[in-house]
Amino acid sequence: MPTVTLSTSKPTTARADVLVLGIRNDDDKGELAEALDLMGFSGEKGQTVRFPSGGLAKAPVVVAVALPAEPTAEDLRRAAANGVRAAKNATSVAVALHPAGVDEVEAIAEGIELGTYRYEAYKTKKNDKKAREVTSAAILTPFARQGTATRALERAATVAAAVNAARDWVNTPPGDKRPADLVEAFTQHAGTDVKVTVWDEKRLAKERCGGILGVGQGSDSPPRLLTLSYEPEDAVSHLALVGKGITFDSGGLSIKPGASMQTMKLDMAGAAAVVAATVAIARLGLPIKVTAYACVAENMPSGRATRPGDVLRMRSGATVEVHNTDAEGRLVLADGLSLAAETSPDHIVDVATLTGACMVALGQHTTGILGNDEEFSETVLAVSRDAGESMWRLPITEEMKGVVTSSSIGDLRQHNPKPYGGTLFAAAFLREFVGDVPWAHLDIAGPSFNEGSAFDYTPVGGTGTGVRTLVRLATELAGAR
Ligand code: BES
Ligand code: ZN
Ligand code: ZN
Repeated sequence: MPTVTLSTSKPTTARADVLVLGIRNDDDKGELAEALDLMGFSGEKGQTVRFPSGGLAKAPVVVAVALPAEPTAEDLRRAAANGVRAAKNATSVAVALHPAGVDEVEAIAEGIELGTYRYEAYKTKKNDKKAREVTSAAILTPFARQGTATRALERAATVAAAVNAARDWVNTPPGDKRPADLVEAFTQHAGTDVKVTVWDEKRLAKERCGGILGVGQGSDSPPRLLTLSYEPEDAVSHLALVGKGITFDSGGLSIKPGASMQTMKLDMAGAAAVVAATVAIARLGLPIKVTAYACVAENMPSGRATRPGDVLRMRSGATVEVHNTDAEGRLVLADGLSLAAETSPDHIVDVATLTGACMVALGQHTTGILGNDEEFSETVLAVSRDAGESMWRLPITEEMKGVVTSSSIGDLRQHNPKPYGGTLFAAAFLREFVGDVPWAHLDIAGPSFNEGSAFDYTPVGGTGTGVRTLVRLATELAGAR
């Protein structure tokens, strides 16, 4: 991540390889007007043009970035990322986007730190490494000397580092993050900021976690449950987080077609998000108790794998008739949700790449929010907006409750026999495990992984989606903003 600093310099005098200059569509473009027009700069949001400064500014190159007349924090986050990404070959940039306040400074810093992310752990060619990258960025703002601005910068760095850690974990090839490896990576990342406990397969059996064990039993690499806890003395609330951590989803015996399996290393993005967010919340010192459960397993077919028709006995005591071993996420989450609910937290949020159906409903950039508490779902939706993550509420309809409880031989059926409302059915299933605790379920199947090309601050591959909303939510529930 580049080092981001604040500076009171004027755009024309800032020293950097590239000056990223925000141009609002109501700005008087002065002597640049004609040239910008000739370069095709229409002022459409997100647009950039790059040109030599020709003595207009101390920086030898200028990247102009289009902004609306009154940019939101999200507009600035994207503009900063687009500007810095367009500053090809620069190692230092000065970013002049005229933030109206410290929240805007924070968004710009996040945009820079998220937009410059690259995943190069498996690149061996020296030439690739030589491609220059931005190592320092100065945000130009008159608030540079204010303590609140410095704290905003620190917050941005903590949150962006968390998002980037989640991206790294998602991008890691599935053979290099089998359950024990992934749990080790999470533990390393947590350091001493939060308390970590790991249950192996023997402990999971002792604790009757039949959902996690049932999903993981087909793999040579047994499942794990990792619990992180952050418990500050001044905590005003207790938030429990649960993440789906399928290190690879082959579908199990209900095996996926090859093409659908290609990206299934992404299936632990929910666990990555809750772990990264919890560590960030601890590093920010927010006055809220957070307990995070990462339900980690590899979903593989084998002679030991769970079969369609098998019945699993879950942590809650309920029995579940399995119909499709590719609907494994709800089985691991169910045990995590039971463990969370047993501690009677004030709220539970689970994050999961749960259903392809959610992508059918909302597309690839929007998370589905479902839950058992109107007010809490609205709170999650509101903080997602502030965080700049696209989310939308979906209902758990009455129809689904009847289907969930319609197993012929067990208490619950795992899979909807009809191909309709798959996201709602999955949430109705999860609801059976949270008791009375206000709970929200985030289905991140779409936005967790970018299969297209990079845009704004979203890179190709793992996106780290969910982290920023969870940190905001904790901030809100802690009354710290
Ligand atoms: N991990 C998948 C969901 C998924 C699909 C995430 C595409 C990201 C992109 C999940 O375990 C799964 O396979 N779900 C099935 C459920 C079905 C069998 C009820 C699905 O969505 O098809
Ligand atoms: Zn699956
Ligand atoms: Zn899955």
